[in-house]
Amino acid sequence: MTVMTIEKKIYKMTREERLEYIRKATQISGDIEAMLQPLSFEDSNRMIENAIGIMSIPMGIATNFVINGREYVIPMAIEEPSVIAAVSKAAKIAKVRGGFIAEADDSLMIGQVQVVKLGNVKHATTNILRNKSQLLAIANSNSKSVVAIDLRVRLLRDKSPNNMGNMLVVELVIDTKDAMGANAINTMCEAIAPHVAEITGGEVVLKILSNYSTKRMVRCRATFDKDELGGSQIVKRILYAYALAYSDTYRAVTHNKGVMNGIDAVALATGQDFRAIEAGTHAYAARDGTYRSLTTWGRTKAGDLAGAIELPLAVGVVGGVVNAHPTAKFALQILSVKSAKELATVMAAVGLAQNLAAIRALSSEGIQAGHMRLHARKFSK
Ligand code: MEV
Repeated sequence: MTVMTIEKKIYKMTREERLEYIRKATQISGDIEAMLQPLSFEDSNRMIENAIGIMSIPMGIATNFVINGREYVIPMAIEEPSVIAAVSKAAKIAKVRGGFIAEADDSLMIGQVQVVKLGNVKHATTNILRNKSQLLAIANSNSKSVVAIDLRVRLLRDKSPNNMGNMLVVELVIDTKDAMGANAINTMCEAIAPHVAEITGGEVVLKILSNYSTKRMVRCRATFDKDELGGSQIVKRILYAYALAYSDTYRAVTHNKGVMNGIDAVALATGQDFRAIEAGTHAYAARDGTYRSLTTWGRTKAGDLAGAIELPLAVGVVGGVVNAHPTAKFALQILSVKSAKELATVMAAVGLAQNLAAIRALSSEGIQAGHMRLHARKFSK
C-alpha cells in the first residue's frame, strides 16, 4: 500500500474526502459507504440472544504509521476523544527514526482438558503420554486448517480453599494460523475429552482454550527523537513516568489502560475478541507476581527515547466475527494485513504509540490541556 502525501490534514477533511483518501491509499474498490453500514437488526439477532438494537461506536483512521518499513492506515473504533489524534502524532514522531519494528510468534494456542478424581496420577500421566499421537489424531480429525501439534500433561494441586485434590491438565498446543481459533480449540478439547477420561480413569471437567496466549507473543519497538518530543527534559520526565508505572500497580493499571486504548480500538474495528485480549494482556503484565507496565522505556546513547512493548495477542483475520461483520471486513481491508501475525504487529505498534502519546502529554502539559487544545482545533474554523 502506498500512502499518499496528504495535501490536506485528515482532521480538516470532510467525510467524503477521508473516504476518498482511504480509497486511494488502499486501492479498495466497491461501495465503501455500504461497507460502513451498521449491522442490520436481523444480523445482530442472529449473532446474540435477546437482541434489541445496535450499540454504535465511532470508527476513525490513524495515520503516519510505518511498521517494518510499510505504511499503514489504521482503523480504530473508540468513543474516547484524542486517542486517534494522539497515536497519529506519536507515529509521526516514530517515523523520523524509521518507524516501528515489530515481530509476532506463530499462532500457537493452548487448549486445556481438566481431569479430576484420579487414582494413580503417575499412571494417568504415563497413559496420556503413551497415547499422545492417537489423541492428537482425534483432535485433528475434524479440522481443516487449524492443527494440534503437541500435547503435554501438567499435574496441579488445588490451591483453592475447597481442597478438591490433585488434578491433571492435558494441554493441546494448537496452531490456529490466521484465525484467533477459540471455536476450533474448544472443539478439539471436547473431541479428546472422553478418550482422556477413559485413558486416565478420571473425570473430565473443563474443556476450553486458555486466553493466556503466551506462545503467541508480539514484540514491537521504536525510537522517538528527543527534539521531536520536546527536548531532553521531556525525555527525562517520560522516564520518571515510566519509573512510576514499573514500580507501582496503581499507576501501572492507568498506564496500561492507555496502551489498551490503542489496542482495543483496533481490536474492535477489526472484529477481534477484545475481552480475550484484555484478560491475557493483564495477566502477562503481572507475570512476575507484580502488575507492571506493558511497555518499557529507556534512553539511547544519542539521548532519544527508546520504547518497546511485548504482549500476548491472539487475533485473527479469518473466522468468527471477522467473517460475519461487514465493518470488521472493511477495517481489515483498510489495513490490508496478510496474516494474523501482521495484524498483531500493527496492534502492538498502536499500543506503544498510544502509551508514548499519553506519557508524553502527562510529562509535559498534562492530559486535560492536550484534550482542550485538540477540542479547540476541531471546532475552530
Ligand atoms: C486515558 O484514557 C488514558 C491515560 O490515563 C493513560 C495514562 O495515564 O497513561 C491518559
